[in-house]
Amino acid sequence: DTLAAPNAYARASETAAYVRSKLPEALQKPKVAIVCGSGLGGLVETIEAEPKVELAYSTIPNFPQSTVQGHAGNFVFGLIGPQKTPVALLVGRAHFYEGHTMDLVTFATRVCKLLGIETMIVTNAAGGLNENYEVGDIVCLNDHLNLAGLVGIHPLRGPNIDEFGVRFPPLSDAYDLDLRRRTHKAWKKLGLDQQKRRLHEGIYAFVGGPSYETRAECRMLRILGADVVGMSTVPEIIVARHAAIRVLAFSLVTNKAVLDAGSRGNDDTIQAMSKTELDEHLNKGKANHQEVLEAGREAAKDMQGLVKQILSDLHED
Ligand code: ADE
Repeated sequence: DTLAAPNAYARASETAAYVRSKLPEALQKPKVAIVCGSGLGGLVETIEAEPKVELAYSTIPNFPQSTVQGHAGNFVFGLIGPQKTPVALLVGRAHFYEGHTMDLVTFATRVCKLLGIETMIVTNAAGGLNENYEVGDIVCLNDHLNLAGLVGIHPLRGPNIDEFGVRFPPLSDAYDLDLRRRTHKAWKKLGLDQQKRRLHEGIYAFVGGPSYETRAECRMLRILGADVVGMSTVPEIIVARHAAIRVLAFSLVTNKAVLDAGSRGNDDTIQAMSKTELDEHLNKGKANHQEVLEAGREAAKDMQGLVKQILSDLHED
């Protein structure tokens, strides 16, 4: 069932009240929430030791329970950076492929809205489709292809929840231009433009998963205009935009999607392949979860630095 539950507003309110009851005065009013994708939860270690509140998802009423390895589930509140900006970190997220309804996948986003969050920074690990992208590059999203949504698997399907937003929300400018401008400025300010890792702007294609894409699917997504592909983020972005939360999103390219057609030659060409060639062919570029986690660890520091610089820039306003 992909329908939003009719009592979603009441449940989110109950959860927000619970979370607020756990927060000391200094942490009551974060304006920015950060969703940390696969291997990108290191931001937690950079927040002040005190005051800090970590709530395990398993202890929060109505929260979905994350089931993926490497995606610990913690809702963390604390102060970050030299200006001690209050933030809410969602470390670990619920994915649609885990079997959660879209309603649950986006539940934390709605709780954030009710906690007073105005800006959400969403990060993820994604496969690179754009030929110019390398593993470890960072992509600031400027648009998306909601493949599941276009055919009705959509977080806003069902009776509209008027308390959050309108029935037919526009998404033409979902990825906030001002925040993207700040991102590029921050990248430069940190000197990250002087190194190998590059910051791109690109389009994210949301797929249901959990299998990675076939070669033909990768080519299809590229032809449709996608630069990266992944199994998260878009539902959260849509629900955030529905509720008028400003959105900034980053993909870390953790593998290059396989765009060449592979061996679909005639029997002769396949028969002529040596065992070594066959093995090479099979292993080339194949996405695997281990690779995703490793590339995440290496690039996570730059991504964290970038996010902190943006927070600091926002704080100055
Ligand atoms: N996450 C990381 N790499 C991915 C890929 N190639 N496809 C979908 N999701 C991913």
